[in-house]
This record gives sequence, C-alpha cells and structure tokens, in this order.
Amino acid sequence: MRRKKTFRDVEIRGRKVLLRVDFNVPLDAQERITDDTRIRASLPTINALLERGARAIIICSHLGRPKGRVVEELRLEPVARRLSELLGREVHYIRQIVGPEVEKLVNEVEEGGIVLLENLRFHPGEEANDPEFARQLAKLADVFVNDAFGVAHRAHASTVGVTRFLPAVAGCLLEKEIKYLSEALERPERPFAALIGGAKIDDKIGLLERILEKVDFLLLGGGLASTFLKAKGIDVGKSLVGTDEKLPLAEAIMAGAHASEVKLFLPEDVVAAERFEPDAPARVLPADEIPPGWYIMDIGPRSVERFKEVLSKCKTVVWNGPMGVFEIERFRRGTEEIARFLAELGITVIVGGGSTAEAINELGLAEKLAHVSTGGGASLRMLEGEELPAIEALMDKR
Ligand code: 3PG
Repeated sequence: MRRKKTFRDVEIRGRKVLLRVDFNVPLDAQERITDDTRIRASLPTINALLERGARAIIICSHLGRPKGRVVEELRLEPVARRLSELLGREVHYIRQIVGPEVEKLVNEVEEGGIVLLENLRFHPGEEANDPEFARQLAKLADVFVNDAFGVAHRAHASTVGVTRFLPAVAGCLLEKEIKYLSEALERPERPFAALIGGAKIDDKIGLLERILEKVDFLLLGGGLASTFLKAKGIDVGKSLVGTDEKLPLAEAIMAGAHASEVKLFLPEDVVAAERFEPDAPARVLPADEIPPGWYIMDIGPRSVERFKEVLSKCKTVVWNGPMGVFEIERFRRGTEEIARFLAELGITVIVGGGSTAEAINELGLAEKLAHVSTGGGASLRMLEGEELPAIEALMDKR
C-alpha cells in the first residue's frame, strides 16, 4: 500500500477542517449510546487539530442506514452530547448537513469551535457519491481529514467524493488502523498466529486464504470451525456448517495449510447444546462425539488450553471472530478465556472489528491489546489485502 499523508503533513493553523469520522455507534430503544468506543477513538485527532490551531473543526458522520431519508431516531444529537462530555467543551450540533445555514455557522463559530453536522446518510447524495453533494460538503472547509476507518471500504461522497475538492489526509485513527491491519501483517514478528472464529466460513474465506500465506499457526473456532470438522468426516449435528457446498472451501484451506506447512488447530472438544437457545441442556464433549441434532456453541476447556499453549509461543496474533456464541452468557467462556489470556501475554495482538471488538470492549480488555480495530467490514477487507477506496483517495506521501 502506498503511504498516505496525514494532518501532520499539511497546514492546519487558521484553516477550517472537515473531519470525517465513524460515529456509527449502537443505540438502545431510548436512543442512548450503549458503546461509545468509536466516539472516544476520534478524540486524539480532534485534540491534535485543536493543538495545531485549526480555525474550526467540522465533524461529519453517518449513523445507521437511513437510505437518503431523515429518520428521527438516527439524528446525531445523542452523539453530539456524548462528544461534548468527552471533550469537555461545546459541540455545535446542527440538524442540517450542507447549505447556507451550515455555511453561516462554520464561518461564524468561535475560533477553534467544533461543529457536528447531521447524519450524512439523510442525504441521498452521500451513498450515491454524488459530486454536487461532495462539492457542497467540501465548500465548508479548507482541508479534509479522514478518520472514519469503519467506513473506508465504502466509496461515498464524504469518504471519496470530497477528496476531489480538498487536500485530503489521514487522522490519527486511520493512521493507526493502517499501521496494524496492513503494515504489521507485511512484516509480523514471528511466530505469527491467526485465530479465526465467527459464525460462517463464507464471510472469512478471503481472510483465511490470504492469512494462510503469512502465518505459522492457524487456530479455528466459532461456527466456522464446524465446517472444517464436518469436512474431516466428523458429525457436527445441526451446527452451523452453511451448506455442504462450503465443505470444499474448508478442504482447500486444510490442503493449503498442509502444503505451506502451517500448523492448523481445530477444537478438540466443544460445548454442545440440544437446542440453539440460552437455557437448552448443554455438555462439554469431544468434538467427534456430538449427539445427532445438537449444536456446537463454544470451544471446550481442552481446546482453550491447547490454543493457549500455541498462542504462548507467538510474538504476533491476529484475531477475528469469537470462539463461540458470545452473545449468550453461558457460551462465552472460550472467547473470554482466550481474550484474557492474550491480554496478559504482552505480545502484539491485533483484533478485527465487529463482534470480536465488541467482545473485547465488553470485557474491558481493549487497552491491554496492541490494536482493536474500530471497523467491521473495513478491517476484514483490509486483512484480506484489499485496497480500501477511502484510503486510496487520500494524498500520497512523497
Ligand atoms: C460499520 O459499522 O461497520 C461502519 O460504520 C459501516 O457501516 P455500513 O456497513 O452501514 O456502511
């Protein structure tokens, strides 16, 4: 990947900065933010821009998928409140995205003032990457700083379109995500392991294929491990194996691992339940003794010990996907034990976004790991080696 300019490479003093962030945070039924990780992740860039003397910071983000219409529950108001609390200063939230009133506000705001625009996806031009909408957004500022890693795999007006009209550079978060998800994988300190879980093999096949070329150990858990167990001829009951068409994918990965001398580990024991329900009868069983019709819900204690033993030999670990059904308290033990173990190892642990990051944040372990990505789809694409359009669109470093 070509190296990209950051806000340190351009003049910030006295200039209005359009800052794209990913404030797509989970809200409960009362529109309260249930996890503010993504808001906190924007603070280093906002503070750095203030320290560098920005005239004003105009922050923009999407929230949810309102599809070009105004959806009252998806207004950025709660986000503005939380951001203001975290920054300890006023955030001027405006219920519009572009237009004369917004222009007036950004021109008249106090020196170093912070403005938060309304949800970008209320405008149909955002997802359509409409050049006119991008031009109107760009008109609000002198420089564009992108810190919205979570949406970097989408070519939208506020991620790609605006870069045609303004000098476009990366913020601290984007820089950190690139460093860990791309550069660290190019030159990992060895031994290097990938721990891959999650529900379905379909979502992870690109990642598995790429990572196989790089790792020394590949450890598989979660729903996708059941496809591999079945491909080895093991009866996995009703566990999520996708359709039988997926079995050749698992076979190909196993053959690839063998050919490239990557040591592959599957769960040797599992927590299996009679039904896919929170209080269904459940038992710890060897992986090849699952009763007909039962479901694998987690990796078992022997697997946890085996995985720990392998991970303790490593200097770098990439983790994407929980080891079991983390949402159900009884079936989160595998994920939790591995997470706690990795947090104490003192090695470079890089965690993909989405449900793995949610689990790590819920356990309060993020600070102890080298990097927990804020992007779900974006982190997966990047680990697969894809170039993300919003990053590509930024100015190259000479
Ligand atoms: C995310 O939550 O993964 C990002 O904010 C992107 O959201 P999207 O999938 O709706 O584009």
